[in-house]
Amino acid sequence: MIRRAVVVAVAALLPAVALAEENPAIGYRQALMDLVYANFGTVGAMVKGDIPWDDARVAGYGKDLKAISTLNAMRGWPAGSEGGESLPAIWTKMDDFQKKMEAFQAEASKLGDVAATGDREAIKAQFGATGKTCKSCHDDFKKDDEG
Ligand code: HEC
Repeated sequence: MIRRAVVVAVAALLPAVALAEENPAIGYRQALMDLVYANFGTVGAMVKGDIPWDDARVAGYGKDLKAISTLNAMRGWPAGSEGGESLPAIWTKMDDFQKKMEAFQAEASKLGDVAATGDREAIKAQFGATGKTCKSCHDDFKKDDEG
């Protein structure tokens, strides 16, 4: 009976994942980018003064951003996964796209290190350097970007 209940529970989840399964890579990369944003954006809100500065939170979000930057992000853009907000140029200029990804990963990793020091000026500067790598890629490879 227990096993049957598990099967029923799992079956109930299927409609929710069906869309992602049409092209799992799109869901993967959007989830990855959302996680990047959740950490980077919160540091940004403090850098911009939108929410109060908190050394421990800056260090924590920086640490997680650094961890995320070690993931193999390119898994999100395999051949044949055109769609979402990704521009087709990604698949014709894959080397360029990958270089921009590596630049982001390097700067995000540094932001994690700097965030741990509590040095606000250094954190602001490294936040800016990391943000440039987002923009540099979005400008060339993402649809409908405002910045
Ligand atoms: C090497 C390229 C690249 C870099 C670097 C990059 N992005 Fe992205 N990002 C993309 C692409 C391409 C998409 C569109 C994904 C799709 O929908 O197919 C995207 C989508 C997003 C989205 C929307 C996700 C969703 O749910 O649709 C957010 C938010 C985002 N990026 C934030 C960031 C932030 C913040 C940074 C830097 C800290 C960053 N990105 C760095 C390429 C990049």
